[in-house]
Amino acid sequence: MKTFLVVQASARKARSITRELARCFVDAVEEADPKAQFHTRDLLDNPPPFVTEDWIAAAFSRTPELSENQRAVLAASDELIAEVKAADVIVLATPMYNYGMPAALKAWFDQVIRINQTFSFDLARGEQPIEPTLHGKTLVILTARGEGYFGAGERNASMNHLETHIDAVKHFLGVDAPSHLINVDFQEFGDERHEQSKAAAMKEAEALARKLATG
Ligand SMILES: Cc1cc2nc3c(=O)[nH]c(=O)nc-3n(C[C@H](O)[C@H](O)[C@H](O)COP(=O)(O)O)c2cc1C
Repeated sequence: MKTFLVVQASARKARSITRELARCFVDAVEEADPKAQFHTRDLLDNPPPFVTEDWIAAAFSRTPELSENQRAVLAASDELIAEVKAADVIVLATPMYNYGMPAALKAWFDQVIRINQTFSFDLARGEQPIEPTLHGKTLVILTARGEGYFGAGERNASMNHLETHIDAVKHFLGVDAPSHLINVDFQEFGDERHEQSKAAAMKEAEALARKLATG
């Protein structure tokens, strides 16, 4: 039995493709393994706070006991990190906004990637002082994009800062293996390319869900 953390990053509830894709994935997992556990973190309902000067001072504090105020400043981060730690599979359902991730998802990463929680820092390691502390998790990225042709070698590949950014930080979530990526493209065009992309993505999400639920 696996525990799935589903992070929803779309700013819309109605007509959201990433939410629909995540629903399809979750339904297929539930069907394959009715005992699977789910936790949803909806960044629209509960946007993570931005990192502040107080947050940085508390997170990097060298004193063993934090003050009440410092604990309060880190409370949201503690909660989000606990959700990541508890998950076997992390599902990021995220639109592309301005060729990158939505600000709410970036704020989530900034709260989750924290010294002595999800990474350690030791200058004795030379040029690579930072090491992730979590391991063995699986990452599923479900995206929707208004345009298309963002794949390797395609004409908009250099503007795709969504997948590449997630790829650069995924090891801090405990993800060592390559992530599973499913995209729906051409949403803004609403044409046949979009319909085909969406239908293929739904199928892919179902198949991946079955594989991860039982594997
Ligand atoms: C603020 C905003 C910025 C967007 N920026 C891009 C973009 O840079 N590239 C792109 O292909 N689509 C962009 N889109 C389109 C969305 O990626 C597309 O509508 C997607 O379906 C949104 O996900 P959702 O359906 O789950 O809400 C943008 C949409 C919004 C609302």
